[in-house]
Amino acid sequence: MRLDEKSLSKKFEEDLGIPLAIAASGRSVDPRRLSPRERIRYRALEALPRRESWLKGRSALKRLLLRLGERDDTSEVRFPHPRFSLTHSGRYAVAIGTDSDRLGGIGIDLEVGRSPHPDSARFFLTPEERDWLNRQRESDRPAHLLRLWTVKESLFKADPGNDETGLPDYRMKDPGAWRGTAFVRHGREIEMHYASYPCGEGWISIAIYPRRDDHAGRK
Ligand SMILES: CC(C)(COP(=O)(O)OP(=O)(O)OC[C@H]1O[C@@H](n2cnc3c(N)ncnc32)[C@H](O)[C@@H]1OP(=O)(O)O)[C@@H](O)C(=O)NCCC(=O)NCCS
Repeated sequence: MRLDEKSLSKKFEEDLGIPLAIAASGRSVDPRRLSPRERIRYRALEALPRRESWLKGRSALKRLLLRLGERDDTSEVRFPHPRFSLTHSGRYAVAIGTDSDRLGGIGIDLEVGRSPHPDSARFFLTPEERDWLNRQRESDRPAHLLRLWTVKESLFKADPGNDETGLPDYRMKDPGAWRGTAFVRHGREIEMHYASYPCGEGWISIAIYPRRDDHAGRK
């Protein structure tokens, strides 16, 4: 799989209407390049299988931060974040960032080379989304399921209030749409936007959550 950062960020920019930068990395950052606070985290991950993918994630994030003219100490970035998000899948870690101040949150999810089990749909789709899925041709369902999974994960990551939500709390207006609107309830209904594209043997999705004072959601 080849990940073309420029063409992907252009497509997503057009779909979501905000400036975007994407940085992918297939390599771990050299631990000697870690800041003192990053090193503390790195040591805490010792012996965990996640350590290598965490280093790859720091490599993608550092590239992204430098590209946006920021300091590349990733320990200053806490997720969920209004301007940055990160995903790992297969050989890659992919970071996304925007210098827009119009957002409350942004989320990215990439999934390649694995597909959710069909029975897992009930854990992350709403009943209406499952009905839609069941009306699709059986042979098309695995690809739809994977796309829907990345959309839900990106919506979750973009939501600054995601400590109170799970994936079925995000309701897509049209589950068949590659780009569109979704809703989540935080007291009132908040309108979010997402876009997704096939990426190698998988899908990549990006979602955005509005800034607090821009909530266009309905009561
Ligand atoms: C946290 C979660 C979003 C990570 O997603 P994932 O597909 O497993 O892994 P990804 O590689 O795509 O993303 C991992 C990155 O997400 C970011 N992340 C972690 N928690 C996050 C959060 N609460 N909000 C936003 N981003 C988060 C981190 O940058 C992490 O990478 P890092 O550890 O190197 O910093 C996911 O595990 C999760 O909790 N999903 C929703 C929970 C849920 O409803 N589960 C039911 C499933 S049936």
